[in-house]
Amino acid sequence: MKPTFLPLIFGTFLAVPLFAAPVRQSPEIPDLPRLVLYYQTTHDPFGRPISILPLVTEKHIALTHLIVCSFHINYGGIVHLNDHPPQSPLFYTLWNETRVMQAAGVKVMGMVGGATPGAFTRSTLDSADVQTFDGYYSQLRNVIAAYRLDGLDIDVEQRMSQKGITRLVRRLRQDFGPDFIITQAPAASALLRSDGALSGFSYQQLENEVGADIAFYNTQFYNGLGSMVGADTFESIVDAGWPPTKIVAGQLTSPANGGGFVPHEQLNKTITELRDRYGEIGGIMGWEYFNSAPGGRARPWEWAQIMTAILRPNSVPVLTVSDATARSLLQAWKASTFSGAAENQPDRETNSGPSVDYMAMVVG
Ligand SMILES: *[C@@H]1O[C@H](CO)[C@@H](O)[C@H](O)[C@H]1NC(C)=O
Ligand SMILES: *[C@@H]1O[C@H](CO)[C@@H](O)[C@H](O)[C@H]1NC(C)=O
Repeated sequence: MKPTFLPLIFGTFLAVPLFAAPVRQSPEIPDLPRLVLYYQTTHDPFGRPISILPLVTEKHIALTHLIVCSFHINYGGIVHLNDHPPQSPLFYTLWNETRVMQAAGVKVMGMVGGATPGAFTRSTLDSADVQTFDGYYSQLRNVIAAYRLDGLDIDVEQRMSQKGITRLVRRLRQDFGPDFIITQAPAASALLRSDGALSGFSYQQLENEVGADIAFYNTQFYNGLGSMVGADTFESIVDAGWPPTKIVAGQLTSPANGGGFVPHEQLNKTITELRDRYGEIGGIMGWEYFNSAPGGRARPWEWAQIMTAILRPNSVPVLTVSDATARSLLQAWKASTFSGAAENQPDRETNSGPSVDYMAMVVG
């Protein structure tokens, strides 16, 4: 899929399977344990794009999956990435940078759903009516194909039917082929209950039906839904029959992002204990990038450096940014920032350049 396909695939029903994986150099990165990070806040308060490239250019980071979020399915409307259509100029930087991340071997996925209602109702993706489902699903499918996403994280935080979630997983597999990464984002407690708590369906039944199609579970161990202060929640999940390598321990990256933040010294203790017991676990997931502790907004990548030290210090990938790539990133940054699409339009006079030095990333 080339970006020039965009006008064609939007609004067109494609019967043939779409394969999202772009042609690119893919350095061999061991899959386990995973280091997964959500990227939802894409702009700073001045309307300037927040670069994700430090996650591959700063030293000693071994990110495996970046999840761009949140895609919203809007009843009677079109899919949005947060507050804007994904093709908005605001996201030029984002979509140019995700290509660079992919070239460094990081899997770039999307996430649909989250705390905002709309995606999984009886009038949208959970519709019993096939045409209604197809209409909303095809919007999602087109975005995945257009931006060459490597996978989709399904974050059901409202009631959805068992049939509905299974249908969605099966359709994604059918349309995007065997390498497409499908994940779920349950609350830790939801894996222990047959009613799935706020998701409405049983995750155990989902795993029984389409478990082979779900790569892993970005499990929320925070906001009172589970905890990594000690090993107990994770252990109860394994005792309930879940494979430890399929459970990625979801953590808040900052106390500002919710309740139940675990300092990294404590987290390391729990992770060490779990790996001693089970040999390996699924990894660590962080919600979300832009304000991660300890660096905060100024240096959010420090969280990923510490998690790498805890999880996978010996598998740090090497990034290559060519001169031409750096120049086009600079171009995209300017286009994103001064497109006029942001609510807070930055001033050209006071914004001489990006908050990230793309030219300094050029190697050789
Ligand atoms: C994590 O804890 C283990 C065991 O105590 C220790 O060897 C290791 O250095 C710690 N790692 C980090 C990054 O703190
Ligand atoms: C990359 O940025 C340019 C603007 O510099 C934009 O035209 C292009 O659509 C962007 N690429 C993607 C995939 O969004």
